[in-house]
Amino acid sequence: MKRTKIAELLRTEPTNTEVLVKGWVKAFRNNQFIALNDGSCAANIQVVVDAERVDAALTDRIKFGAAIGVRGKLIESQGKGQKVEVVAEELTIFGDCNPEEYPLQPKRQTLEYLREVAHLRFRTNTFGAVFRVRHALAFAIHKFFNDRGFYYMHTPVITASDAEGAGEMFHVTTLPLENIPRTEDGEVDFSKDFFERPANLTVSGQLEAELGALALSDVYTFGPTFRAENSNTTRHLAEFWMIEPEIAFADLHDDMDLAEDMLQYVINYVLEHCADDLQLLENRLLEEEKSKPQHERSPMPLVERLRFVVENKFERLTYTEAIEILKNSKPNKKGKFQFPIEGWGADLQSEHERYLVEKHFQKPVILTNYPAAIKAFYMRLDDPGENVPGPTVSAMDILFPGIGEIVGGSQREERYDVLLQKMREMNIPEEELYWYLDTRKFGSCPHAGFGLGFERLVQFVTGMGNIRDVIAFPRYPGNAEF
Ligand code: 4AD
Ligand code: MG
Repeated sequence: MKRTKIAELLRTEPTNTEVLVKGWVKAFRNNQFIALNDGSCAANIQVVVDAERVDAALTDRIKFGAAIGVRGKLIESQGKGQKVEVVAEELTIFGDCNPEEYPLQPKRQTLEYLREVAHLRFRTNTFGAVFRVRHALAFAIHKFFNDRGFYYMHTPVITASDAEGAGEMFHVTTLPLENIPRTEDGEVDFSKDFFERPANLTVSGQLEAELGALALSDVYTFGPTFRAENSNTTRHLAEFWMIEPEIAFADLHDDMDLAEDMLQYVINYVLEHCADDLQLLENRLLEEEKSKPQHERSPMPLVERLRFVVENKFERLTYTEAIEILKNSKPNKKGKFQFPIEGWGADLQSEHERYLVEKHFQKPVILTNYPAAIKAFYMRLDDPGENVPGPTVSAMDILFPGIGEIVGGSQREERYDVLLQKMREMNIPEEELYWYLDTRKFGSCPHAGFGLGFERLVQFVTGMGNIRDVIAFPRYPGNAEF
């Protein structure tokens, strides 16, 4: 007999037909009622065991966490809260689970503890919901781009260039660390290394995606990226997944429109397809926030917050306008910012981003036209603006409530001479990036793109406070377990 997943059974009418379910025991009440879950959905199915017909030696082994199979009739449920249940006719134990030793217990366990047992935490209600929503978001992203004629491009994980020019790369080498070969002048002899040159894990697929866009028009990447930055925050990972669309014959406005459409589309997709999981996550968040002071609680419950983002246009303003708002803001005047806003030119800190999004506008914000000096070399230089104290670039960052920066993007510098000069000013090695410069020599065109941090999106949609709880096995300073 073929097994049916619980998600499908719960959608069926009670037919009195024979079914086979398999899953893990969530609870066993009164030696009679099993709550069984197979991860296909948030809900459990109730299995009714007739103690007279099942061997006591077998019922004794129905413990929290055990993997079992049940063959029986699917009938209309007598109990409240479920339409159907299974009356067991045959019971199989696939894997026992000793409650004395099992790291999971049928009670609330802290997220910090569950991180230590990340190999088992998928089995909790919370993480089941998080990983189902994560999947739905990934699927929706592919669907969004596919429906709009974008091509999915696989950019290399191992690269020889620093796409962001920020020097936060992990080296990739097979050189023996205990006996590194040296050249005559004492430098590391990379000619003896696997690639016969220095190599690293990619920080971004953007530069390669640009090459694709300048032939296929619209492309996107969706892959792992790596940053060796020593950031121990609830928003940073050393290994995270990034979505990077790149569009040809497009400017910054097209780029912002694309990003806003995409975010609203994928959030709406999850609202439509993951209602049960979102409800579970909303309840979890409400429970968690009970112990927090009022001002630290979210102003809206999770689902309402997601609806709000889908239904309202994002606020768009320039960096220069944002600085004015921040300079005149209450926290700045009262000296409440850790990094006071003194004038134009400084990078915004997360406290400033959060003020704009959560206090001033109370909605997602797109900040544009940042000072050239604080942004990457590939961003397009703006024409000098009135009342703008210094050179700016056609950059945009999207800031989300509770998250801060979720998207970073720009129109790209398509003018060969301007790009070359910028690379020289910023010490970007032009020999290493000859291939990037080539696209500006041959058939260059205006183009733009952005990067969406996938885990930050999952965080926003699930309401999870720590980015380490939305990726299966988080990598961060001091941790590469599992
Ligand atoms: O702003 P970033 O560094 O931009 C780029 O990498 C560009 N090449 C993107 C592009 O234009 N194609 O990173 C983009 C996004 C950020 O907005 C953030 O959401 C996420 O990636 N991100 C991180 N997420 C988790 N952990 C980290 N350490 C992250 N660093 C960036
Ligand atoms: Mg950024």
